[in-house]
Order: sequence, then C-alpha cells, then structure tokens
Amino acid sequence: MKIKNICCIGAGYVGGPTMAVIAEKCKDIIINVVDVNEERIKKWNSDHLDELPIYEPGLDEIIKNCRDKNLYFSNLIEEKIAQADMVFISVNTPTKKKGLGAGKASNLKWVEECARQVAKFSNGHTIIVEKSTLPVRTAEVIKSILDEAKNSGKRNDFTSKTFDVLSNPEFLSEGSAINDLVNPDRVLIGGDNPEAIESLAAIYKYWVPEEKILRTNIWSSELAKLTANAFLAQRISSINSISALCEATGADVREVSRAIGSDSRIGTKFLDSGPGFGGSCFKKDILNLVYLADFFGLPEVATFWESVVKLNTWHQNRISQLITKNLFGTLSNKKIIILGFAFKANTNDTRESAAIQICKDLLEEGAYLVIHDPKVSPRQIETDLKKAIFQTNQIEDKSNNIRESNWSFANNLSSIFKDADAVVVLTEWDIYKSINWNDVSNLMRHPAWIFDTRSIIQGIDVKESGLNFWQIGDGLI
Ligand code: UDX
Ligand code: UDX
Repeated sequence: MKIKNICCIGAGYVGGPTMAVIAEKCKDIIINVVDVNEERIKKWNSDHLDELPIYEPGLDEIIKNCRDKNLYFSNLIEEKIAQADMVFISVNTPTKKKGLGAGKASNLKWVEECARQVAKFSNGHTIIVEKSTLPVRTAEVIKSILDEAKNSGKRNDFTSKTFDVLSNPEFLSEGSAINDLVNPDRVLIGGDNPEAIESLAAIYKYWVPEEKILRTNIWSSELAKLTANAFLAQRISSINSISALCEATGADVREVSRAIGSDSRIGTKFLDSGPGFGGSCFKKDILNLVYLADFFGLPEVATFWESVVKLNTWHQNRISQLITKNLFGTLSNKKIIILGFAFKANTNDTRESAAIQICKDLLEEGAYLVIHDPKVSPRQIETDLKKAIFQTNQIEDKSNNIRESNWSFANNLSSIFKDADAVVVLTEWDIYKSINWNDVSNLMRHPAWIFDTRSIIQGIDVKESGLNFWQIGDGLI
C-alpha cells in the first residue's frame, strides 16, 4: 500500500518535528498534523516563525519550506483522519496521578481516545502508527478498540473498515531533533503484518538507508523504546553517583568519564555529569518499566530500575543542599542568579528539568532568585515553580524582606549580577560559556560563589577573578 495521505494526532515536541521532516523528505505525501489545542495550532500556523510553539534548531526553515504545500496544521481531527491512509498517534502519555498504577503507569486515556476517533472517522484501510512511547502491549488496547469498530461496521452494514497497528518509537533527542530525524541511528518498526510494515518503511526509505530500518514484532519494538531510555538514564545516574564520590575523594569526574569512555565497550556518550536528567521521557519511561516489572511479578527488576530515578532525585537535592551549605547555611537575604531553566540546551522545554526542583529548594531556603534562560518564557517558569513572578516595582524598593523566597526573570545577562551572592549554571547554553567573570566579580557581593553543574565554565578564570568556585564532580577544587 503506497501511502499518500498521513494524519498525525498531536502537534507537540514529537509530532511537530517528525512530521516536518517527513514532509520535507516526501514531497508527494500530504501530511496533516492535528491537535485538540487551538492555541498550539495557531502558533504552528503563525507567519512569524519565531512564534512556533516549540524551539528546535532548523525546524523553522523546514516549516517555511513545507507549510501549506504538503504540511498542514489544524484542529480538523475528524476530517483529516477520514482522509488519511496512515494515522500517527503522537499524543502525550503522562504518568498516572491516581488510581491503579498511580505514580508509575502511563495514563493512556488520550491514546485510547485517539484509537476511538480513528475507529469512528477512518475510511477503508488505515494503518495506525504508535509514535508516543507506550507501555508494552498498548497496541493490544488499540487493536481491540479498532476490532470493535470493524465488527460494529459489519453489523450495521457501514463501509467496511480495516486496520493495521504498528509501533514506530521515536528516538529523537530535543535540541537536536531535526538532525536525529534526518540522520537516525536506526528506525524501528514493529508489527504483525509485513505489508503494513513495508508501507511505513517505504516512507523512511526516501532518506534513510535500508540497513538502518529495523523490523521486529510489536512487543519487542514497544519494549525497545522503554529500554533505550532506561539505559540512557541509567548511565546518567551512574556518572552522577560517581560525581559525588569524586567530590568526596579528590578525583575529577570528567577524568573518570574520559578514562572509562575510551573503552569501546562503554563508549563516550551520556557520560556527562550534570544537575540530574530531565525531559519528558526518562523518568516517565523508567517508572513505566518499574510498573510493568511489578505487574509481571518481578520485584527485583522493578527495584533495580526504580533506583535510577531515586538517585536522580537525590542528586538534585544534593546540589541545592551544597549551595546552601557553602552560603553559610542560609539563603535568606541572598540573591542567586540561575543561568538556564530548560532541561538541556537548545530547547524551550522545561518538563522534569532539574532546575525546577533545585529552584524550589532554594526558594524554600529563602533565596531571591533571578532566573535567565534564552528560550524559556517567564510564564512557563511561573507554572513550573507554582509561584508568580516578583513584580519589578517591588524590586526597586530594594526591601530584602519582600524579595525573600521570590523570583524574577532576566531577559539578558548585562545587569543581573549586581549584588548577587551566587550564580548557579543549570543549563549548558553556549552564551554562558563566554561570560567575563572578572566583570561579574566586580558586580557581585563578596564572598561570592559560582556553582557550575554543567562543567561549561573554566574554573581558572573564575578563581582568578576572586570568586569561589564549585564544579560538579570536581574533588580537586
Ligand atoms: C511526547 C511523546 O509523544 C511521548 O512519546 C512521550 O512519551 C511524551 O511526550 P510530546 O510531543 O513531547 O509527546 O508531547 P506534547 O508536546 O505534550 O504534545 C502532545 C500533543 O498532543 C499536545 O499538543 C496535545 O494538545 C495533543 N493531544 C493530546 C491531542 O491532540 N489529542 C489528545 O487527545 C491529547
Ligand atoms: C531522550 C532520548 O535521548 C531520546 O532518544 C528519546 O527519544 C527521548 O528521550 P531527550 O529527553 O530529548 O531525549 O534528551 P537527552 O539528550 O536524552 O537528555 C535527557 C537529559 O539527560 C537532559 O536533562 C540532559 O541534560 C541529561 N544528560 C544527557 C546528562 O545529564 N548527561 C549526559 O551525558 C546526557
């Protein structure tokens, strides 16, 4: 079956960039990205490309080339499903907050809703592709909803509908999503029906070499996605645990990473110690794995993976505690500059960002935070911290009592360091690498501290400027 018309439900960090790249590479395929969120769709259709709902290097250029040619964004969910021969499901699957599996299992209500919509509005044969990361055996849920639609179609003598369900997990990493999609390490397609698998493979073959397209069964594909994220997150918790040991013993975690990474069995990637992993996937996917292991009677497996998340939380708390300790055990009346709020550089995404917990802890200790991020909006930070931004007119009255446990936002770096007691680097944005620490030192209140959780600052420059310096995993300072 040659695919001519694709509908993608969910115009988020996964659906948007993925469909943009397919549109760019397959000019003869019509692609409709649909979403229930009207505001988001408006932004995707904005004439001003800097207003796109997500920031991803290279994305604006592709949108400019393809939008309204073979790539369309709308809220017309029913109509676009009806026209499609392939429907991608890219809706969010957050961790359940209540009920069975609360705190661990994924909430599949939106995926289920999508399956019902496809069952109702599709025509003829439709291939459904799971793009969202889903717990193993979700395809069964989708299939049973679709089967019911097929049967009721027969009973009521409606146009007969047929379906195939495929799993095609996304391995893109935010901040480098376009490059990851254009040059993937592999594309994974899981399914039962070889013809359906080949229909999807044919799309990727427009630009991905055949040997990189892996075919497998649907369960292995679903589990491979969870496992890939769990392994990556595990590496970060492993190196972060070693960073604490380095600080205690006088070793340097960067040297340890370099030494172990040159073992080709270990490899160099994902060995950067940081403030703790964030992002929408790692924690959620591991908790999903924990839930599955428990469900299938494997408590030791569950405990093993849960420890990766626990270590991450401990590590974030460890950082806020050591900041407080170095600032004489109290942050009351102290101004702290936070450099970076996104969960990593080159994205405006803050989901599960280590900055959220660390900033909350510092506010709890009474600090006054001035937060800078080149791409994250103050509104997003308000939502994440569950605390309204401090009004500028209040800052001007310079009353420390009012500023205590409050935060404000800075658009640029020019004047934020004045009278600050500490600077904490939480995201590895390039602009922070070229800060002149001599100038900063002249503005800060001494004794002043620089805390670098991302290893992007040259310690020597900072120390020569008369500032105290702490860097993650550096026991030699
Ligand atoms: C990702 C992935 O798809 C998922 O695998 C991962 O596990 C977490 O999130 P992402 O694109 O990052 O999704 O999520 P998000 O940016 O929240 O986008 C999801 C979109 O789906 C939202 O715009 C939401 O409005 C939309 N949606 C949700 C629908 O259109 N219909 C629904 O029923 C539910
Ligand atoms: C991840 C997976 O990499 C991707 O394959 C999957 O599809 C979605 O989840 P993403 O969350 O976008 O991608 O970013 P990633 O680059 O994996 O970083 C996740 C977190 O780990 C970030 O907070 C990052 O700063 C942190 N990290 C990453 C480290 O602390 N050290 C590292 O060495 C690498």
